[in-house]
Amino acid sequence: MPRSHHLLAAAVAAVVVVVMGWSARPCEASLYQPPPPAMAYHDGAVLEGAVPVSVLYYGAFPPHHRAVVADFLMSLSPRGRDHQPHTFGAPGPAPPPTVARWWGTVERYVRKAGRGGGAGVARVVLASQVDDEGCSLGRRLSRAQVERLAARLGVAPGGVAVVLTAADVAVEGFCSSACGAHGSSAPGGGAVHVWVGDASAQCPGRCAWPFHAADYGDADAGRHRRAHGHDVALRAPNGDAGVDGVVINLAALMAGAVTNPYGRGYFQGDAAAPVEVAGACPGVYGRGAYPGYPGAVRVDAATGAGYNVVGRNGRRYLVPALVDPDNYSCLIMT
Ligand SMILES: *[C@@H]1O[C@H](CO)[C@@H](O)[C@H](O)[C@H]1NC(C)=O
Repeated sequence: MPRSHHLLAAAVAAVVVVVMGWSARPCEASLYQPPPPAMAYHDGAVLEGAVPVSVLYYGAFPPHHRAVVADFLMSLSPRGRDHQPHTFGAPGPAPPPTVARWWGTVERYVRKAGRGGGAGVARVVLASQVDDEGCSLGRRLSRAQVERLAARLGVAPGGVAVVLTAADVAVEGFCSSACGAHGSSAPGGGAVHVWVGDASAQCPGRCAWPFHAADYGDADAGRHRRAHGHDVALRAPNGDAGVDGVVINLAALMAGAVTNPYGRGYFQGDAAAPVEVAGACPGVYGRGAYPGYPGAVRVDAATGAGYNVVGRNGRRYLVPALVDPDNYSCLIMT
């Protein structure tokens, strides 16, 4: 292989941030609560203005799953007035927050960066959706192949190419080290891509939690937690742990891709292992969350599904808590 190939591979891998749905931490009891660490800005680009997003569905995705994903993306920056659910008449329980309100925190980061190019917004526009149902590159993909698939989408600069891999597609590092990733084709610039895998068949306990009982990797710990009622899975709001888990990871990675597209945006800690805006509150979906328990979320009376936001077509979704850009606490949608 000529060296240029390796250089290219290194460049492609330059900015890759992975998201695991949830990571186990030991139980801690402490009265002193240290202030949360700052979500530091590293003076680089964020994505702003219109952010065109194209999606490649790689492998078999039922139409219902594609609609769940497309409605989620179109709920981030809704056009017109279809985004606020109306409440008629008498006082009742507060309506659930919208997906757009959740995305509003991402836009606060964009405004705070103050680069000014995009008027402080990141308006996600679903530009195109493409199918590769026949899996043109096979059912075992390296990360470089995922990036090649992303490049096929031909997304405009400032946009995001999203590759979703179906439940029967294996991707290098999927489950063992990541539920998805975002990155760019060159350090400091280039095309931005996000990849998320449907974990339902391969590792639902790692990448589709809390819609599936958590996989602790340690049977004793798992038994202990289950014995103590700490591990009751939530019902998936769109009826499928796979696609509802994809939405959780897609949400987290879109937030990371916009606020830290090239590795010089917002993150905590070391640039080699950045903790981004959706990664600093792992496993937090509602109030009172602790490792193994997602917190108190809304529950659909009819189906028992857990959710914390509502989007287009009245669809319900569960989205991860983001770090507040001003006080760095975990912002929970309630
Ligand atoms: C942080 O700020 C948000 C508003 O952006 C507020 O809702 C929340 O209560 C604040 N948290 C703390 C701990 O002050």
